[in-house]
Amino acid sequence: MCGIVGAISPNNVVPLLVEGLKRLEYRGYDSAGVAVLADDHIHRVRRVGRVVEMENAAIAEKLTGNIGIGHTRWATHGGVTEPNAHPHVSEDELAIVHNGIIENHEAQRQRLKALGYKFTSQTDTEVIAHLVHHYFKQHADLFKATQQAVRELTGAYAIAVISLKQPDTLICARVGCPLLIGLGEGENFIASDVSAVLSATRRVIFLEEGDVAEIKRDSIQIVDAIGAAVTRKVHVSDVSLASLELGPYNHFMQKEIHEQPKALSDTIEQVLDAGFRPELFGEDAEDVFAKVNAVQILACGTSFYAGSVARYWVEAISGLPCSVEVASEYRYRDAVANPNALIVTISQSGETLDTMEALKYAKSLGHDLTLSICNVQESAIPRASRLVFYTRAGAEIGVASTKAFTTQLIALFTLAVTLAKRTGRLKVEKEVEYIEALRHLPGSVQHALNLEPQIKSWAERFSNKEHALFLGRGVHYPIALEGALKLKEISYIHAEAYPAGELKHGPLALVDEKMPVVVIAPNDALLEKVKSNMQEVRARGGELFVFADLDSHFSESDGVHVIRTPRHVGVLSPVLHAIPVQMLAYHAALQKGTDVDKPRNLAKSVTVE
Ligand code: F6R
Repeated sequence: MCGIVGAISPNNVVPLLVEGLKRLEYRGYDSAGVAVLADDHIHRVRRVGRVVEMENAAIAEKLTGNIGIGHTRWATHGGVTEPNAHPHVSEDELAIVHNGIIENHEAQRQRLKALGYKFTSQTDTEVIAHLVHHYFKQHADLFKATQQAVRELTGAYAIAVISLKQPDTLICARVGCPLLIGLGEGENFIASDVSAVLSATRRVIFLEEGDVAEIKRDSIQIVDAIGAAVTRKVHVSDVSLASLELGPYNHFMQKEIHEQPKALSDTIEQVLDAGFRPELFGEDAEDVFAKVNAVQILACGTSFYAGSVARYWVEAISGLPCSVEVASEYRYRDAVANPNALIVTISQSGETLDTMEALKYAKSLGHDLTLSICNVQESAIPRASRLVFYTRAGAEIGVASTKAFTTQLIALFTLAVTLAKRTGRLKVEKEVEYIEALRHLPGSVQHALNLEPQIKSWAERFSNKEHALFLGRGVHYPIALEGALKLKEISYIHAEAYPAGELKHGPLALVDEKMPVVVIAPNDALLEKVKSNMQEVRARGGELFVFADLDSHFSESDGVHVIRTPRHVGVLSPVLHAIPVQMLAYHAALQKGTDVDKPRNLAKSVTVE
């Protein structure tokens, strides 16, 4: 989704703005632009398409300046056109970039039109530009004008503003969308995501809800939502630049699939160090867990599937009832609140709007026991939660979530076992078994990655298919769902997943010799049932592609292809089986020639509804 970067410096800021925008490309966007102040003018370059096209135009126009703002836009209000691309300008004096959605933009537009402002775009953002300009005329102080303007906005925003009349000042503000200030020596920066400023600084201040900041080269002033001066903590980011580079890989998705042994062992390390102890989830966790009598998981997409695996674990291991719901549904229904339920939000980015709103809704219903499982330090959802478990996947750039998913599973498994300790359901020998299972998992995942050549040859057979079915049972059913999601989102092959037992209640009608059916079939308690379901497919001519483990004892036969993952890894088997379905989707997408890291119509962080 949209990205913001801004800088004020004694040096030319254009290279930094362009590099920052390139770092934000992974979030998904359709146009890009920058504006700088120089020679008493606003110089602006905007282009539909990739940042590099905008960069070439900026080079051709010899764009330079010591203060500037840049933006990657993912269209919401108005089509993908240059006039709708940011920055937007008011009266040739003031430029603004904006992430989020202004809900009362139509009323404000009418009001500003009546005041004589002319609109040149269809965006909600232009409203903010004119509104700030309107108050700037009255206050002659950009900081105050912005504070007054944002008070009249409803919706979500992160904005950055510069003006010719105050060329030593960069103003920014946020509600509902992330924004941070990067601290330099004699220069300062802003960005919606730390990756955009990492080449310049690691020292960052995360703005809080309602904050407005005035940034000069040597000073920063922040006021909160009611206008009171505040000091916000300085963090040193631990995101590494290497994690933002492709290195020897062709795609970030490929890199991130292969990083899983490390991402998993980094995440598991904290559990092995602490044991299944509440402190892993925050200082307050002991008290919170003592009150918990149920678990309610809220998340979207792949994170929702991680939650769906967790439902099996939480109920089986801790004995606590657990439900899991898509966040965008939960937030709009009259849910019955159990105040002793632990609300668990799962979000890689920590800024998915639907998940954030679901959390707020849960709190409004009286839920006070909240835990976030997240991969991005200090992002909005963990900040709004009482407890947090940070996965240590490292930056995930590919739109399709891979290493974030498998590390979320570790966090959720750890939660299930930790709750089991509290409920008194955890036997000592089981605890030892679980610790051993965690310890051995990264090695097994490494073995699963070695299956890539075989999976690639399967993928070649998928590239001319229009549809695919994924089947799984029990705790592996959500892995089938995840496999189908991965395949459809990056290869655009239509894929559906079913619990294998559901086949004959409808989807079996789809099966013929043209339908590839992927089955997740490890050696668990439901294996024999899965085998019967597979017979039903074969009897109708369907071609089976089976991911089994060494203990499942499958053999290949006509129309039945088998790839064996390492020995059955017991309770953590869903984590292991996520790997081959990720690789299948990746190679099918390569065969089809799609943009693997930036699939069409999708964005990495979904910060709008
Ligand atoms: C799919 C995918 C998405 C995200 C979903 C939630 O590969 O990545 O389905 O899982 O948009 O995102 P987060 O986890 O950031 O809340």
